[in-house]
Amino acid sequence: MQYPELRMRRLRATQKLRDMVRETSLSVNDFIYPLFVKEGIEEPEEIRSMPGQYQYPLKDIVEAARETEALGIPAAMMFGIPAVKDEVATSALDENGITQRAIKAIKEDLGDKLMVIGDVCLCEYMSHGHCGIVENDQILNDVTLELYGRVAVSYAKAGVDMVAPSGMMDGQVGAIRHALDQAGYGNTPIMAYSAKQSSNFYGPFRDAAESAPSFGDRRGYQMDYHNKEEAIRETALDVQEGADIIMVKPALAYLDMIQSVRETFRMPTAAYNVSGEYSMVKAAAANGWIDEKKVALEILTAIKRAGAEMIITYHAKDAAKWLKE
Ligand code: PBG
Repeated sequence: MQYPELRMRRLRATQKLRDMVRETSLSVNDFIYPLFVKEGIEEPEEIRSMPGQYQYPLKDIVEAARETEALGIPAAMMFGIPAVKDEVATSALDENGITQRAIKAIKEDLGDKLMVIGDVCLCEYMSHGHCGIVENDQILNDVTLELYGRVAVSYAKAGVDMVAPSGMMDGQVGAIRHALDQAGYGNTPIMAYSAKQSSNFYGPFRDAAESAPSFGDRRGYQMDYHNKEEAIRETALDVQEGADIIMVKPALAYLDMIQSVRETFRMPTAAYNVSGEYSMVKAAAANGWIDEKKVALEILTAIKRAGAEMIITYHAKDAAKWLKE
């Protein structure tokens, strides 16, 4: 059939018709909300480059988690900023560290009502801001793995529901799986930052997590964003090493990777709608150039349509409210 018998506009005529033929739907169940807990502050501090997002003191983190849960968001991703940073990430391993205490406090208060996912990395805890142990300006892979395993176990002891290794060391998923299993946490799933790009969209996060590298950059361990085949290989390795959920990060500029990863592995797939993607929308909206609500929902829908069933997003709370309207 062809025009004039065929008319695509027939099914666009009313909202009811459009709803009936809609292929993708966005739901609050799709969202994971990042939470930042910071040691040594008294009141929540708004992150300058991420309007509407806060670093919370420990005393306010449970309330922040409750607000997340009350909106129907199923999970939070926990990031900690310790008071003391050094060259061996001591406070990342501390069972009484800020992140572990926050996980514990939230889980004690909310139980199964909110899942807490612990981002496993060292950059926030290192004086140099790199994601692994540094020697002669080199980021060492294998010694770092042991630390990742210990961090993951300390989170599990604190009650975390899932761990998410984001450091991009080779072998990290296998090392963490092994460490968790050895410590009796065989049921703790791993959400692997599999295709994590060395991206310029992380700038605002590094303000939020105070984790910018003090020398060099992360191109020696995070992926070169020109490479999609490599993203598939990276993800295949994480799957082999035992990842339960795979992730593409960032999301908006990487919709092609999300789609390929989804179609190749047919596994639960997450996408991280990162800080820079959020802040661009915020900045344009603040200038009155775009409608924040409409644009944010369009972006989140696009990420879902590309093939992610989980979206880690700073817009989670707003989007949860908008979807209810
Ligand atoms: C830690 C980590 C980063 C992000 C999540 N975990 C920053 C980085 O790799 O520099 C970025 C998140 C965002 O930009 O929203 N390795």
